[in-house]
This record gives sequence, structure tokens and C-alpha cells, in this order.
Amino acid sequence: MNNTPSKNPLDKLPLILKKDLDQNLCTCNEVLKIDIINAITNGASSVEAVKSETYATMGSGCCTQQVERLIECLCPPEEE
Ligand code: FES
Repeated sequence: MNNTPSKNPLDKLPLILKKDLDQNLCTCNEVLKIDIINAITNGASSVEAVKSETYATMGSGCCTQQVERLIECLCPPEEE
């Protein structure tokens, strides 16, 4: 009964990445962190996909690493 996988994608994120969800992750384009997380969990599994969904990273690209990190956490490569 305790083995039920959680459906909340935020549970896959390390604590430190769960902070400030309602703040801009991409300050250049004012894209909220939660919007980026939602885009990733809805299938945007690459920076390019996140970019086209949310416009994040389209400023100077300074948030690209953070977006990559979120993708890494939310889309583990070997997970089905
Ligand atoms: S903060 Fe996202 S491109 Fe600069």
C-alpha cells in the first residue's frame, strides 16, 4: 500500500528545486518555474521543447542550465 507511485511530479524534484515555484525561473521572459515544470511533465523533455512551449531560455539563455536540471529530474532517462 505504501508502494503506490506518487502522481505528483514535484515529488521527483530534490527539495531545493521545489522552492520558489511561483517565481520566475526565466527572468528574461518572465516564465514561472511552475510553468516550466508543467511543460516538462506534459511532455516537453528537451530544452528545445520547453523553449517552444514556454519561451523560457529565449532571452540570453541564462536559465538554460536550470531548465536542463529540471528536465533531468523530471524525465529520468531510463524510466518508462
Ligand atoms: S533567464 Fe531565461 S533566458 Fe535569461
